Amino acid sequence: MRPLIVALALALTVPALPASAAPAESGQGVSDSRHRVRDLRDLAHKNGIRIGSAVDVAALRSESDYRHVLNREFTHLTAENAMKWESVEPERGVFTWDDADAVVANARRHGQKVRGHTLIWHNQLPAWLTEGVADGSIGPAELRTILRDHIRVQVGRYKGKIRAWDVANEIVDDEGNLRQSIWLEHLGPGYIADAFRWARQADPHAKLYLNDYNIEWNRAKIDRYLALVKELKAQRVPIDGMGFQGHLGIQYDYPGDWANVMRSFADLGLEIAVTEMDVRMVLPVTPEKLATQAEYYSRALADCLSVKSCREFTVWGFTDRHSWVPGWFEGEGAACILDEDLRPKPAYHALLATRRR
Ligand code: XIL
Repeated sequence: MRPLIVALALALTVPALPASAAPAESGQGVSDSRHRVRDLRDLAHKNGIRIGSAVDVAALRSESDYRHVLNREFTHLTAENAMKWESVEPERGVFTWDDADAVVANARRHGQKVRGHTLIWHNQLPAWLTEGVADGSIGPAELRTILRDHIRVQVGRYKGKIRAWDVANEIVDDEGNLRQSIWLEHLGPGYIADAFRWARQADPHAKLYLNDYNIEWNRAKIDRYLALVKELKAQRVPIDGMGFQGHLGIQYDYPGDWANVMRSFADLGLEIAVTEMDVRMVLPVTPEKLATQAEYYSRALADCLSVKSCREFTVWGFTDRHSWVPGWFEGEGAACILDEDLRPKPAYHALLATRRR
């Protein structure tokens, strides 16, 4: 009885994605089954890239339909919050790896690669750290040791299990300056090179990334990163990749130069990844807005596919049921490729229909 009930429940709750509903690419017959892309995994394999999603660990644990779709569709995972410093070391010296481990274990079971997110950031730091720095009980020398140990412990724990690490997240501001943070203030700009070197020592095979938002279009920020990468490379700092978060909104123009920007980093010898793609909209949702959103997702994927070293396209959550957007952007939402009931939106079909230019 039981397996039948489970099977029935699954059939009822997990929406099948109708491949036949996917729009045929213009100029190609619908009947050409060789080019028919079944799902995102198929799309990933046919294009030789990894297609990923951020993972909400609570949903992974408690929602079987969420789990089912995540593992059916994606070949790459990023923990949305579970590997951030406040999550893994909420009290000094007390490590809570369960959620991070759950993502890595899920990936292993389903043949998915993992992006580690993130080692250094100015947000989601544990209170013991920020308060200790603020009240002076943690001085610069100790802060440097704390950062080194954090990187050694976390990267070391997942050695061989994480394909790429976001070593430094959002370290340049929108004016193109190194971001003011406890790291810059107390350790000076050398913390960046140190962090990459410590990460390399802890896992020589993991690809080491910078990661940021608005570098799809913000020239000051882009130029600062290009200069930074050149400086780091000149100092033989081990840096392998540039991550473009890709948080877009349809109320803004699509960043039409994005592929060229990707290429300018690729020309420095870096891997490129789209690490946190989502396309938000001012609510309410309308069919027109969904169509524009679909176009943005498809253009972003086409931009990535047009650059040889862009081999990862990760969405920041795959369902509107679990998206950071409504909580962070007032009046905005519906940023993901599946709706709250895990039904594919036009954006999902547009991704399947996207071809390498
Ligand atoms: C966001 C998460 O999605 C939220 O759940 C959390 O409350 C805040 O952080 N850039 C990043 C991500 O690098 O880590 C952020 O994730 C979104 C912006």
